[in-house]
Amino acid sequence: MDKLIIQGGVPLNGRIRVSGSKNAALPILMASILVDEPITFTNVPRLRDIFTTLKLLNILGCVSTFEDDCVRVESCDLKHEAPYELVKTMRASVLCLGPLLARLGRAKVSLPGGCAIGARPVDMHLTAFERMGATFDLDSGNIMGTCEHGLTGAHIQFPFPTVGGTENVLMGAALARGETILENAAREPEITDLANFLNACGARITGQGTSIIRVQGVDRLTGCAYRIMPDRIEAGTYLAAAAITDGELVLEDCPFHELDAVVTKMREMGVWINEREDGVVARRGTELVGVDVMTMPFPGFPTDMQAQIMALMTMARGSSVIEETIFENRFMHVQELVRLGAKIRLSGRTAMVRGVESLKGAPVMASDLRASASLVVAALAARGETEVLRIYHLDRGYEGIEKKLTNVGARIRRVPE
Ligand code: UD1
Repeated sequence: MDKLIIQGGVPLNGRIRVSGSKNAALPILMASILVDEPITFTNVPRLRDIFTTLKLLNILGCVSTFEDDCVRVESCDLKHEAPYELVKTMRASVLCLGPLLARLGRAKVSLPGGCAIGARPVDMHLTAFERMGATFDLDSGNIMGTCEHGLTGAHIQFPFPTVGGTENVLMGAALARGETILENAAREPEITDLANFLNACGARITGQGTSIIRVQGVDRLTGCAYRIMPDRIEAGTYLAAAAITDGELVLEDCPFHELDAVVTKMREMGVWINEREDGVVARRGTELVGVDVMTMPFPGFPTDMQAQIMALMTMARGSSVIEETIFENRFMHVQELVRLGAKIRLSGRTAMVRGVESLKGAPVMASDLRASASLVVAALAARGETEVLRIYHLDRGYEGIEKKLTNVGARIRRVPE
C-alpha cells in the first residue's frame, strides 16, 4: 500500500488539467451493456474504479480496450452475474442491474455491503425496478432480479433524489417497453451526461437535469463516440488547494457552471475564482473567512466536496459550520484533520470548525476517497511533513494526483508503505 509524503507550506502555482469525471464515466461505461454496437469513449480518467468497471464489464461479456483516455467497448456475449469480489470493492457495480435487466431480463448482482461513509442501501433502485415489472430475491448475499418479458415503463417517484437510483432506472428505462417517468429524480450533471450519452445512442430521454425525467423506451441502442464530461469534484478539490496554499491555479477543462454551489461558498470564504478563456483561475483574496455549508443534492453543495472545504475552513478566520445531510457517517476526516492541528467539534451530522493560524504536519490515515483528498489539501498547507497513509482510496478518484500537484510546485511524493 502506498503513502504520500507531503512537505507543506508551498504555494501552488500553474496549470492543472481537469480529468474526465469518475462519477459520470462509471454509469456511462455500465450503459455499454445496453448497446449492441461498438462504442468509443474519450476523456476517460485512468482510475482504479474505472479499471474495476472494465473488469466487471468483461465478466458480463463486454470486450474493451483502454488506451490513453480512450475506451472502446463492445457488448458481445452478455452474462448476467456480477460477482461479490468486484461489487465489494466498488459500490457503483450495482449500476449494472438496470442494464442487465433491460437487456437480458435477469441479473444476479451481489448486494453491496456497508461502506465507510454510511449504510448506503439500494432499496430505492429495487423498488423502482419492481414497478417496472422486475421481481427480486435475495440469495446468499446476491440480488437475483428477473423480468422475463423485459422491463415495462412505469411512473416512478423517488422518495429522495438518489443519484445511483436515478442512473440505474434511466438505463433500464431506455430499453423498456413504453414510457417511464422519473419524479424527484436526481439532477446531478453526471446524470445529464449519462442521458446525453444514451440519447447519442438513440435513446429518447428528455428532462435530464430537472427533477422530472421522461424516457420513451426504444428497441435497441446503437454505437457512437462520446466524450465524458470533466470531473467537477476533482476541479473543486484543486480550487481548495489553490486557496489553502495561497497560490494561484488555472484549471483547464474545468466544468465551471457545474461547480456553482462550490464556487459560491469559496467566494464567500474570500477565494477569488474567475472563468477565463484559458480556464478557471483561483487564488486566495485577502484572507480566508469562515462560512456555513449544508450538503444537499445538486444544485446544492455536493457532499463529495464537504471534506475538502472543511480542510479550507480549518485555516479560515472565525467559525464555520458544516451540516452533512446526505450521508450519516461522513466525518471520518475530522479526527485526522485534528491531528494536523485543526480545531473541529462534531455533534451528530454537524461539524463546527474554528479556524487556526496554521496547521502542522503529522502522519494521517485516509479513510475514504474524499476524506483522503481533504487530508492532501490540508497537508499542502501544513508546516512540515505530513504522511498520508492508505492512499489507495485516492487512486480510486484522482487521476495522477501527485504528478498534477508536483507540476504546480507541490513537494509531494509517493512511497510504498
Ligand atoms: C453517488 C456518488 C457519490 C456521491 C453521492 C451523493 C457515484 C458513483 N457516486 O453515490 O460520490 O457522494 O452520489 O451525491 O456517482 N440511499 C438509500 N437507498 C437507496 C439509494 C440511496 O437509502 O436505494 C441513500 C444513501 O444511503 C445516501 C443517500 O441516499 O444516504 C444518497 O445516495 P445516492 O444519491 O444514491 O448516492 P450514490 O449513488 O450511492
